[in-house]
Amino acid sequence: MNKRNFLKIMGGGTIAAATGAGIFLSSRTPKKALAPWDVAGNYEDPRQWALSYALLAPNPHNRQPWQVDLSEQGKVVIYRDKKLNLPHTDPFDRQLTIGMGCFLELMSIAASNIGYKIEFDLFPEGTEAENGPVAIATFAQTGLQADPLFKHVMQRRSCKEPFENRAINTASAETLSAYADIITDKDKVAAIKELTFAAWQVEMYTPRTLQESVDLMRIGKAEVNAKPDGIDLSGPFFESMQLLGIVNREALADINSTSFKEGAKSYKEMLNSTHAYALISSADNTREEQITVGRKWVRLNLATTGLGLSLHPVSQALQEYPEMVEHYQQAHKLLAKPGHTIQMLGRLGYGPATAKTPRWPLETKIIRG
Ligand SMILES: Cc1cc2nc3c(=O)[nH]c(=O)nc-3n(C[C@H](O)[C@H](O)[C@H](O)COP(=O)(O)O)c2cc1C
Repeated sequence: MNKRNFLKIMGGGTIAAATGAGIFLSSRTPKKALAPWDVAGNYEDPRQWALSYALLAPNPHNRQPWQVDLSEQGKVVIYRDKKLNLPHTDPFDRQLTIGMGCFLELMSIAASNIGYKIEFDLFPEGTEAENGPVAIATFAQTGLQADPLFKHVMQRRSCKEPFENRAINTASAETLSAYADIITDKDKVAAIKELTFAAWQVEMYTPRTLQESVDLMRIGKAEVNAKPDGIDLSGPFFESMQLLGIVNREALADINSTSFKEGAKSYKEMLNSTHAYALISSADNTREEQITVGRKWVRLNLATTGLGLSLHPVSQALQEYPEMVEHYQQAHKLLAKPGHTIQMLGRLGYGPATAKTPRWPLETKIIRG
């Protein structure tokens, strides 16, 4: 669902009404939920400085499962909060672990900007330890050169919008092939569009997986500010739809509603506006490999930002629950070497500028220290 869907549903009259509501609606930006973007870099302790950028990382359903222990000088012990798991769409926590990799990489990129190198000891208690850390980060001041990708951190987004109807620049595709496989072949692109839409429909028409998303929707400024995570449906349009009683959790979970059907149509249009995909796969599917994939994905996302390109993960066909098996197998047959796992698949193209997504403040993620 995006703002465009709702515009279509409601038509011009409602847009006019929404605009007419003036001051109330223009004050609906959830500023509190976006404050972590404003205070990134406003910390004395280099660890907190780096963490204030790390928490801007892309991560599944914006769950932000990171927690940190700062009690030991020069170190950060990083945990994943398992209360924030996504049992239906990510039953093996593979995507959540990739999100943790994005977090570690952003932390490392940010630290380099103030001359610190971070050594990560991954899963120091083993990958099976129920409450063990994801990593221990040790900071060392080395006068390290700043990572050039740092300058794109504040502009990076996952762009969930239609792209311009044009192929991506060949030189950009070549640059990005250092980060991921870039797919531009017309037949393959067409096949991926179909696959990603079919897989998205499975997620939508499987009640428990749809409900997992609906439960994470934050509708309107008050909800987004109270819980700055999940799926953000804030801003004047959603707010007016909410006031009119059109947007609420029941309607969003109702597959027979007009808004749901319109949403599906718009989602298909968005997928159809794709001329290229980026893909990261791996020979192994270990926790360490998933962390590596996350580190690669955020570097790709920053590099696309630097090139004026947008990136949008489309993960449904890669998800490991029984109803998705057919599409999962098809994705692997189409796009992976035998035995490899496709870890990330994203639409790549020229998208519009999109808003920042909410974040929990760093202070709420420090469990000790
Ligand atoms: C492993 C992983 C899987 C994701 N899968 C999807 C997806 O299938 N569809 C989607 O719209 N966004 C997906 N995202 C993007 C997240 O929704 C996004 O990172 C989060 O909402 C924060 O927004 P931002 O990246 O713009 O800061 C995924 C992100 C990660 C790291």
